Amino acid sequence: MSEKVERFKQLKAEALKGGGEARIEKQHAKGKLTARERIHFLLDEGSFQEIGRLVTHRSTLFGLDKQVFYGDGVVTGYGTINGRLVYIFSQDFTVLGGSLAEAHAEKITKVMDLAVKNGAPVIGLNDSGGARIQEGVVSLGGYADIFYRNVLSSGVVPQISVIMGPCAGGAVYSPALTDFILMVENTSYMFVTGPNVVKTVTHEEVSSEDLGGASAHSTKSGVAHLTAANEVEAFEKIKKLISYMPQNCEEDPNRFPYEAGDEKRPVLNGIVPENPNAPYDIKEVIREVLDRNDFYEIHKDFAENIVVGFGRLAGRSIGIVANQPAVLAGVLDINSSNKAARFVRFCDAFNIPLLVFEDVPGFLPGTDQEWNAIITNGAKLLYAFSEATVPRVTVITRKAYGGAYDVMNSKHIGADMNFAWPSAEIAVMGAKGAAEIIFKREITSAENPTEMHAQKEKEYADMFANPFRAAARGYIDEIIMPEETREKLIVAFEMLENKVDNLPKKKHGNIPL
Ligand code: HXC
Repeated sequence: MSEKVERFKQLKAEALKGGGEARIEKQHAKGKLTARERIHFLLDEGSFQEIGRLVTHRSTLFGLDKQVFYGDGVVTGYGTINGRLVYIFSQDFTVLGGSLAEAHAEKITKVMDLAVKNGAPVIGLNDSGGARIQEGVVSLGGYADIFYRNVLSSGVVPQISVIMGPCAGGAVYSPALTDFILMVENTSYMFVTGPNVVKTVTHEEVSSEDLGGASAHSTKSGVAHLTAANEVEAFEKIKKLISYMPQNCEEDPNRFPYEAGDEKRPVLNGIVPENPNAPYDIKEVIREVLDRNDFYEIHKDFAENIVVGFGRLAGRSIGIVANQPAVLAGVLDINSSNKAARFVRFCDAFNIPLLVFEDVPGFLPGTDQEWNAIITNGAKLLYAFSEATVPRVTVITRKAYGGAYDVMNSKHIGADMNFAWPSAEIAVMGAKGAAEIIFKREITSAENPTEMHAQKEKEYADMFANPFRAAARGYIDEIIMPEETREKLIVAFEMLENKVDNLPKKKHGNIPL
């Protein structure tokens, strides 16, 4: 017996060493923590329970028979974050470069299966050289086993990927299938084909960082939803992110303590400028309406003409989607439609009510947008809102023009409560353009066309550049003063708390992709 205990202790110590001192030092020198240190920082102290510590690879090819590492390059298990259960896998770059092979993949799929059966989020800490080259096709099979589970788990439990080192080739597709990707600045990269292949094929010279670093993916491609300056900051951001979510699709998000007080916010009265074409920052509105210091922005530096993120209103989690008049006048384009549609679908899948702030002059014109399919991409946002059955509330702060009025959570596509500020302009288009079209003859034949244009523009603006006609139709439930917005929203979301709404029976819809 004591011999077996000794052996067990020896194996455990061996497993905890990962790839050994020298490789751990190399890892630290790059500004990266080890797989186990990362788990230590992310989970509640002492909560981690490891699964499969003694798993080893089975291949004996290309010298693998002489290189046996317990755990096979990934630490897996479960624990808690602020007391809530999460499943976790953390790739160990010090063991065969964190490369993924048969046993490594089996360990990951085991925790993914447990997560779905027990209804808790999965967090993947990615730091890997990709498919284990010595193991060949079984590595590819292992990846596919993970991809398959990513898809089946989608919408069942939240899945979060943290990229903390290399993530290249087909390996990128597991994070891509998860709900959120956070990349650590300067030490992580993601690409399907690396700089060498790029150079051979397109003759472009580009570094790994420029091609697929945190900056490229958080500003240009939108692949990364969040970035962090270092690994410790990454963990803080992940902890906060999951605080807004429920454990699974059957549950509601946790409600945070909140004490009712005076909810009037007079500062909101002064945010929308007198000049209807002057920009303002919608984030000022969002921050003022939400519980203090509670706005958690997603995709902050990508498609900044729309703002999305989580927040709390009287302690309740909500998802916010807002046009941003400070960037491109808040116009909808391909990237902003994709960004918002994906966010809306996440919120809907996980019972997070949606709050929309609308100030949109329409869709962005141009060959670039048309040829890259603004038609299909804009339709994604329309589809996502129309399909969402969570409580949905819209506040029109200023412009609600054209098709964009319909798209941005209008009453007609199922929004529950639609408010407008007195500054709202709900119309087919802006008064200037409208007058040009419908009064073309009067303007061109007038003695003073400029004067006539101005007069007709005013006529149109008086008629439509306001919220009153929409309110008369019931498309707007109530016109409210900006300062009342927070209290109105608190009460509206409370009223909608037990909303039940079901889509027609179907296998699944066919969102325009
Ligand atoms: C086996 C690997 C490995 C891999 C790295 N290692 N990648 N072992 N399979 N894929 C090992 C190295 O041999 C080395 O072992 C240790 O990990 C650290 O690697 P280094 O090269 O010393 O580290 P570094 O200089 O930081 O470079 C990291 C790297 C590089 C850029 C990731 O290792 C690299 O280019 N690896 C190969 C990447 C690759 O081509 N992967 C397959 C892609 S195809 P020792 O013993 O010295 O510590 C793919 C398909 C997936 O992934 C398809 C899914 C559908």
